[in-house]
Amino acid sequence: MRTFTTLGFAAAMAASVIGGTAQSWAAATNASPEHTIDYRHNVMKAMEAHATAIGQILALMVPDTNLAGHFEGLALSTRQAKVAFKEHIEGGKAKPEVWSNWADFAARLDKMETSATKAMEVAKESGVAGPVGEFALDAMACKQCHDVYKKKD
Ligand code: HEC
Repeated sequence: MRTFTTLGFAAAMAASVIGGTAQSWAAATNASPEHTIDYRHNVMKAMEAHATAIGQILALMVPDTNLAGHFEGLALSTRQAKVAFKEHIEGGKAKPEVWSNWADFAARLDKMETSATKAMEVAKESGVAGPVGEFALDAMACKQCHDVYKKKD
């Protein structure tokens, strides 16, 4: 039998969101283009660390105990990347197309986040023994995006 617990939880969440205050990106007091570029590099490095760790686990170099957590971290850092790139600040290795094709750029990050979340769910159930591979490629579509949106080294 279903209870109203879920509904009660949702209402509590809504109340806490409404009670909070939204702070915009532009309100950061020490903002500068260099800081934004540095920041998005840091977020990409977080994505890289999780993707590399996942690669080690899938190659059976280390146990799969943290596999779901790394996919969760990848999903989270991918979501953060979307925020980090949103403001149109050219520089670093980002091509101008990041912003002129923003819908496509953002959709790639959305797809990565969704796939990483699915991989996390599968990994939670059955670790490397589960069908993580089905989602892992889409969750780590790094090169496909770099080929289009990142200047060559
Ligand atoms: C939607 C596009 C997109 C996806 C997906 C993406 N990246 Fe990036 N990445 C970029 C862009 C654009 C830059 C250049 C940013 C800049 O220099 O400001 C970049 C930069 C980087 C950098 C360089 C950071 C530095 O310090 O110079 C690393 C490392 C990186 N990405 C790793 C990854 C990894 C690992 C993945 C996959 C798990 C990934 N990226 C997925 C677009 C993407």
